[in-house]
Amino acid sequence: MGKHKGKHKGKHKGKHKRKTMAQRADRHALYQQTVQAPEADIEFFEKIFEQHRGRKALSLREDFCGTALFSTIWCQSDKNRTALGIDLSKDTLDWGRERNIEPAGVDVANRVRLVCGDVRSNEYEQVDMTVAMNFSYCVFQTRKALLEYFKVARKGVKDDGMFVVELYGGMEAIQEVEDEREYDDFTYVWEQEKYNPIDHTTLCHIHYVFDDGSELRKAFTYDWRVWTIAELREIMEEAGFSRVRVYWEEVEDEEDSDEDSDTLGGSGEYVEVEEVENQESWLVYIAAFA
Ligand SMILES: C[S@@+](CC[C@H](N)C(=O)[O-])C[C@H]1O[C@@H](n2cnc3c(N)ncnc32)[C@H](O)[C@@H]1O
Repeated sequence: MGKHKGKHKGKHKGKHKRKTMAQRADRHALYQQTVQAPEADIEFFEKIFEQHRGRKALSLREDFCGTALFSTIWCQSDKNRTALGIDLSKDTLDWGRERNIEPAGVDVANRVRLVCGDVRSNEYEQVDMTVAMNFSYCVFQTRKALLEYFKVARKGVKDDGMFVVELYGGMEAIQEVEDEREYDDFTYVWEQEKYNPIDHTTLCHIHYVFDDGSELRKAFTYDWRVWTIAELREIMEEAGFSRVRVYWEEVEDEEDSDEDSDTLGGSGEYVEVEEVENQESWLVYIAAFA
């Protein structure tokens, strides 16, 4: 992967220095801008929910909800929708309440419930659909820990409900690499610092590098297990889900290639598959039905 490409314009000079772009930046706002796309996810999830369940999903549980952006947009998408967001970080939940939920208006705010707690707690009401976005469940690094979480996830969805997670993988996922994406006035950097082949754990970071040369290093750090699709499927089945489906990104014809897509040559459209050609890197959605 290339280094930053001569974009940075140097630091401000003079006695009364202005704050750098990194000092002025808000890491949660940057995170939402660079790694989340809830509108597209919701559109896709409601489609597969309807295909499998023959009805509209109304109640959502967002595990590892962070700033609860997904929950907010879910409730904005239909006046009958409700969301329960669960996260361990009070600061992140507070940020989300102030910056996402309250600005969405009282009607939406009344339908989003945030809980500062562990996703492995069994105390929450059953919902139509539970989501665990952006690989968050990879914090559970052993089969035992992941099984415990998936069992709770199974109990948390109704018998005609659905549980969806995202997973990334491929040869590149187990390499020490840095990937960059350019935005208007900063660069998003995904760093895979370490990978341990003995237990398949990885240490990754998100950094933001600004056009004035300042940086937010390790804005977010993840200590994850690199799970495989086959492992997740087996553990979901063991947790009590009866059907597990894998959705893979369709490859696009060269002439309509979409630069916004996650994977090179990807169309942004996900289809249910059982066998695919191997890829350097991939991102899938895995849907488990009770
Ligand atoms: C990768 S962020 C996910 C943010 C957001 N949901 C998204 O889609 O990008 C991971 C979040 O999981 C939370 N978290 C980690 N372990 C947790 C646990 N056992 N129970 C609840 N939240 C947890 C962290 O506080 C953090 O906000």
